[in-house]
Amino acid sequence: MATKTKYQAIKGARDLLPPGTDLWARVEQAAREVFGSYGFGEIRTPIFEPTELFARAVGEETDIVSKEMYTFEDRPSDLPDFARGSFDVVKSANELIGLFRAGEIPQGSVNKIRIAQLEKKLEQWHSVNEKFQSIARTDQVLAGDLEDFGTTTSQVAFLTRDVQLGDLISLRPEATASICRAYIEHGMAQWPQPVKLYCLGPMFRRERPQKGRYRQFYQIDAEILGGSDAPGVDAEVIEMVMVFFERVELPGVHLELNSIGHSAPPADGKPVCRRAYVEALRAALEKVKDKLGADSQRRIETNPLRVLDSKLESEQAIIATLPKIGDYLCDDCAKHYAEVKRQLDARGVKYQENWRLVRGLDYYMRTTFEITAKGLGSQNAVCGGGRYDGLIELLGGPATKGIGFAIGEDRLILSLQEAGKGSAAAGRDVFIAWMGEKAQATAIAAARKLRDAGFRVELPPVEQKFGKALGQADKLGARYALILGDDEVTSGQWTVKTLADGKQEKVAEKELVEWLRKSFRG
Ligand code: HAM
Repeated sequence: MATKTKYQAIKGARDLLPPGTDLWARVEQAAREVFGSYGFGEIRTPIFEPTELFARAVGEETDIVSKEMYTFEDRPSDLPDFARGSFDVVKSANELIGLFRAGEIPQGSVNKIRIAQLEKKLEQWHSVNEKFQSIARTDQVLAGDLEDFGTTTSQVAFLTRDVQLGDLISLRPEATASICRAYIEHGMAQWPQPVKLYCLGPMFRRERPQKGRYRQFYQIDAEILGGSDAPGVDAEVIEMVMVFFERVELPGVHLELNSIGHSAPPADGKPVCRRAYVEALRAALEKVKDKLGADSQRRIETNPLRVLDSKLESEQAIIATLPKIGDYLCDDCAKHYAEVKRQLDARGVKYQENWRLVRGLDYYMRTTFEITAKGLGSQNAVCGGGRYDGLIELLGGPATKGIGFAIGEDRLILSLQEAGKGSAAAGRDVFIAWMGEKAQATAIAAARKLRDAGFRVELPPVEQKFGKALGQADKLGARYALILGDDEVTSGQWTVKTLADGKQEKVAEKELVEWLRKSFRG
């Protein structure tokens, strides 16, 4: 039960506690095993990256980048704290201008504009100040002059606070951009292709928290980079995630599939099918604009594909009448999609096509997919992924094929728990109840031996009456209590009590490990 305390986890972030964390560990272990069997190796990337990386990769106009990232200035620690306002506003402003000219603070276009504004405001301040000082000498200060001086000084202070002192960095909202950055940075194009990587860890998005949606959440992400874009790669990566879900016994798994065509101009100058589709979609949307909500209306301009994602009840009938991507795919994309489907069939992977599945990140092309599971309510997507062949090039690397997915681990766990798969046997295997000095030494040695043999053992640090000790063993959910008193130590015949039924038996010291193993197997 939660208790009210002065400090609480930040909204949308949670503590994951034992025994619940056992299930997290089991799921992660299963991912490592399944992905390992497909030739994947683990990558761990930093949880923060330059904001620019996510803006480029995921897309400026996406919800993730435009609204949801945790972004902050990575200001050098040896800079004075201009932002908190110095008493001498003008001195601070001059220092900042000096730092900018010396190239010690970011030189980007935004800062250029802010420094120029600051310089202009400083000039104005000097003339206001000059006037103010000359009047002050004559003791004729009027309220208006004082106000002028005050306002201009505040404006200088305000502009000073606006100057960016360090580069902008963001907590990662997803892993694909970081993994692509790492691929380029470590010259992985020189490694044997394809490079298959997986990554587990927390991601951060400032979304409205609700069941299955958190601000710090966990993904299990897998990517295949480089090598071929043959449909067999798409089918295999989808097969892998389905095998994983089967391994962890996720209930009600449902896979949806789509192809959204391609957008990067191909070398041979063939038409770019997604562009043609987006144009047709935009034109159709313009005609029904009045009937759409504000979000969709805005998206007609910025990203019409995202209108297809709308969950607004009032828009569903309209969306059903819009042009479908399937009718616009070029021959190559259509062939690719048909072959992905054929190869999924060959692998016995069931799917449902969904022409509206466009995904909320900009880097996708051709294959996109999403997987839902039972017990999750409205946030029921437990995995999303797709192909992103142009991304590494967009980030400054060589032309490279790419495809991958991310599983929402929080949602996966929720669904497993709802299906009753999460009731991990917590507790202890053995609780050692001991009394007396000699028994303590024996208990310490026994605890070490049993732990070495892999049992979960609780050894009370101070002597307790047997009655109290057994009560504690019960509370901790121990399966057995090992009772060690003088008699047991002398005879070498230890008492083992099964806590569930109170049955007690003597087990020879030497045979205890084997006895326990057998009883756990049986
Ligand atoms: P995504 O669809 O944004 O894709 O996220 C993948 C999964 O992460 C979602 O299906 C969901 O289960 C989980 N998820 C997302 N946001 C939250 C949240 N606020 N709380 C809980 N779970 C959440 C990507 O992130 C892509 N990088 C996937 C990918 C990898 N595509 C290619 N490679």
